[in-house]
Amino acid sequence: MKLFKLFKNTFAMAVFLSAIWLLFTWSNLGMLSIQTDSRSIPVAVKNKLCNVNFNDERPHITNSTSLKMIYYVTPTYPRPEQVPELTRLAHTLMHVPRIHWIVADDQPLCSDQVSSVLRRTGLPYTHISSPKPFIYKSTNFPRGVANRRVALNWLQENVAEGVLYFGDDDNTVDLRLFDELRNTKKVSMFPVGLIGEYGVSSPIVKDGKVVGFFDSWPASRTFPVDMAGFAVNIEFLKETANMPFIAGHEEDRFLVSLDLKVEDIEPLAANCTKVLVWHTKTVKHKKPTLKININKLNTISKYQNFVNLLKETSRLGMAEVNAEAGIKSYVTRNRKTSETLADIL
Ligand SMILES: *[C@@H]1O[C@H](CO)[C@@H](O)[C@H](O)[C@H]1NC(C)=O
Repeated sequence: MKLFKLFKNTFAMAVFLSAIWLLFTWSNLGMLSIQTDSRSIPVAVKNKLCNVNFNDERPHITNSTSLKMIYYVTPTYPRPEQVPELTRLAHTLMHVPRIHWIVADDQPLCSDQVSSVLRRTGLPYTHISSPKPFIYKSTNFPRGVANRRVALNWLQENVAEGVLYFGDDDNTVDLRLFDELRNTKKVSMFPVGLIGEYGVSSPIVKDGKVVGFFDSWPASRTFPVDMAGFAVNIEFLKETANMPFIAGHEEDRFLVSLDLKVEDIEPLAANCTKVLVWHTKTVKHKKPTLKININKLNTISKYQNFVNLLKETSRLGMAEVNAEAGIKSYVTRNRKTSETLADIL
């Protein structure tokens, strides 16, 4: 009898806990009504417009004004790879005429490092600081949504025509893609390489029309495509345009919010037979902490260059320098000896 009661209590407890867990998961997944209206973000975030430059200052590009402007929206976030990724993408975009780069950075400050990359491109650009709302900080929530939303808002308020494209900071883009997507009338689509289990994600085209999709993760999506696999004419952006904080469904929900019909999709890349953009991923680098007393090193003038290198490494977020803790670092003077920094001081 006692055992039965214990069992009953445990069972009741388990049911109760499961219910709470379910409720929690549902609300996290945005299935409860308050969360599905993704425009009612309950937490006020301070987005900052860091800088806008409408002038094309590139000496090597002739900007024919008859070309439609491409608005290239790149969400980014601080990490050791941020500056190298942005640098590499910048060097692609610098070859493209009539392009405006919107970079929305997931951090509360207008980062000098990001500004500096943008300024040196000579491109027209918009730099926004758009930290992810606090309640969306948990890993369940997709990165980049807050950034893309704030970029969308900026476009809706400042731009009347052109073509919108979402390109992540780590994608690889063939320059030929820009010539094609510039002519998007409503929504164009094209294959993206290195996606999911099929190695590619693409619409399937028959007689010049999209008749289906080839994507390893259909997930009941109307438009199972990658973020880098479509472009939108800004005149086709509706007031209802929206992107939810639901991992894996951002593209589909966004396209559905535009009231897009499958028959309206314009297939590019030779009827979706060519791959002109890839979802490349850079290996993540764990930021090390170097045990170096930089203040002490700074007092010795002959190590000034080295001190400045350490400061730059730290400024770019590639390593921390700490006098008290971290990896013991060595200096090599010849092939045989290596000394700690303490030895050379
Ligand atoms: C795509 O297919 C249509 C219909 O078959 C054809 O008319 C068109 O030339 C094709 N486009 C390209 C770029 O191959």
